[in-house]
Amino acid sequence: MTTEFSLIEKLAARHSLSAEEYESLLTLRSSEGAARLRSLADRVRREVYGTDIYVRGLIEVSSFCKNDCLYCGIRKSNKNAERYRLSPEEILACADEGYDLGFRTFVLQGGEDPWFTDGRLMPLVSALKERHPDCAVTLSMGERSRESYRLLKEAGADRYLLRHETADKAHYEKLHPSKMSFDNRMRCLSDLRDLGYQVGAGFMVGSPFQTNASLAQDLKFLETFRPDMVGIGPFIPHKDTPFGDRPAGSYELTLYLLSVIRLMLPHVLLPATTALGTIHPMGREAGILAGANVVMPNLSPVSVRKKYALYDNKICTGDESAQCKSCLAARMRSIGFTVVTNRGDVKK
Ligand code: 5AD
Ligand code: FES
Repeated sequence: MTTEFSLIEKLAARHSLSAEEYESLLTLRSSEGAARLRSLADRVRREVYGTDIYVRGLIEVSSFCKNDCLYCGIRKSNKNAERYRLSPEEILACADEGYDLGFRTFVLQGGEDPWFTDGRLMPLVSALKERHPDCAVTLSMGERSRESYRLLKEAGADRYLLRHETADKAHYEKLHPSKMSFDNRMRCLSDLRDLGYQVGAGFMVGSPFQTNASLAQDLKFLETFRPDMVGIGPFIPHKDTPFGDRPAGSYELTLYLLSVIRLMLPHVLLPATTALGTIHPMGREAGILAGANVVMPNLSPVSVRKKYALYDNKICTGDESAQCKSCLAARMRSIGFTVVTNRGDVKK
């Protein structure tokens, strides 16, 4: 008989599971199973990364977005969203401050803002690499052409984060306007991989219309695509979106999935996300204990933090970068982990 425990042991023995088996694992999910998964994932993470926690300095460069994802607070149709865009000088200043605080990876994240043309982004990426040659530059600026990704790589970008959002095409179409396409998103991910980026994929847990079957497809996708990074966090409603009255994703299921992903991809860079810290005061600590090994403190100027609101009640919007970093370092120390000062590349 297939039990949750037999599936967990199979996963821990580094066997791949079928989509049906992933779905059963999620259907059979219990708190005892979660505890078993957590201890196995914790062991695997310690074997690969010890108790080191990698930090990424997140710079939220723009809240302008030409897209209209139904779940996202900065979607184009949200007329209540306050829009801002950091200038290249402001972005460089955030990175300089981050460097002094011990960050060796900068993540430039933003909505799909047409202002950030290749002609503007390339010199920015080059300037970042010139000022801080020992740092990695990660971009998280959405879907672009293969040529754009190529130029940005040439300018010095090392990594790219683009969550696939859901590996189930029909589900993808329920979360996005018809102008956006699942196939293009997958094309972006394969181009990025092809061009030599370290690539991050990922999805929200508990997004509207998500089922265990669609989550099983997400796991199967991660197992075959094998991204270097996987960002997952609970869906959290934003009041000014069509999904404003939907329930948030499950905290326990997010932790369970973090452990599953760690076992499936032992070397993966796995953040305990801000969204996880938003639905539970100890969410990021619990995420690390479930198998994550990355945290992403905010380096954006405090004046814009509240405006980069993908969902409601986001944490850390009032804290200076230095406070954010030291708060997270202290949180990690409290559970026996150490925030380290290095680029935090994936171990192969
Ligand atoms: N709740 C949680 N995560 C969200 N994201 C966007 N909107 C929300 C929301 N309401 C996630 C998406 C996106 C990433 C930058 O933030 O997965 O890829
Ligand atoms: Fe801006 Fe989707 S609405 S990234």
